[in-house]
Amino acid sequence: MLNRKVKIAVMVSGGGTNLQALLDNERAGLIPDGEIALVLSNNPNAYALTRAENFGVKAVCVSKADYPDFSDRENKMMEVLKENGIELIVLAGYLSILSEKFTSAYADRIINIHPSLIPSFCGAGYYGLKVHESALAYGVKVTGATVHFVNEIPDGGKIIMQKAVEIQDGDTPEVLQKRVMEEAEWKILPLATQKVCKILKGE
Ligand code: GRF
Repeated sequence: MLNRKVKIAVMVSGGGTNLQALLDNERAGLIPDGEIALVLSNNPNAYALTRAENFGVKAVCVSKADYPDFSDRENKMMEVLKENGIELIVLAGYLSILSEKFTSAYADRIINIHPSLIPSFCGAGYYGLKVHESALAYGVKVTGATVHFVNEIPDGGKIIMQKAVEIQDGDTPEVLQKRVMEEAEWKILPLATQKVCKILKGE
């Protein structure tokens, strides 16, 4: 049983709207069992780093330019996570697949948001607009978002939370991406993060 909040790192590569949703929910008191202690990016140009700084959260970048070797880069990231006492990692638009070494070091302590209803439109290669293009090309009428634990199989870990979003006539991948974010991702990622923090606190 933990007497304090679970220390969270949010790993990002891009714009960071999901990070923003997490920060806003934390500030509103909606993640009472966790605190975002670190934002870790693999992209020095990620706007998510600016969002973290604006919020007064420590932001660190471990880039390919500084660590060209994949394994060295992951080792450095794990070092930074350890130095900051991180207990839960939230992948929020982190565009690199973690190795088994990494995922097994944080078993049941890494969660990810994916913009479809897993097991549809997921796995290696399904990221960004590709996911929504595929949903529209298939002709599904309902899509959504999934928060799941991360293991060595891309998008293959246990599902924590899902939310459905209806597809509308005339949707483009961009329009659908925005609706999935607004109606599903920004809502379930903070909820699932709190849910996992509560479980970790009780252990
Ligand atoms: C989101 O669609 C998320 O589901 C996916 O990557 C995108 C990240 O967007 N994993 P943002 O950086 O949070 O704005």
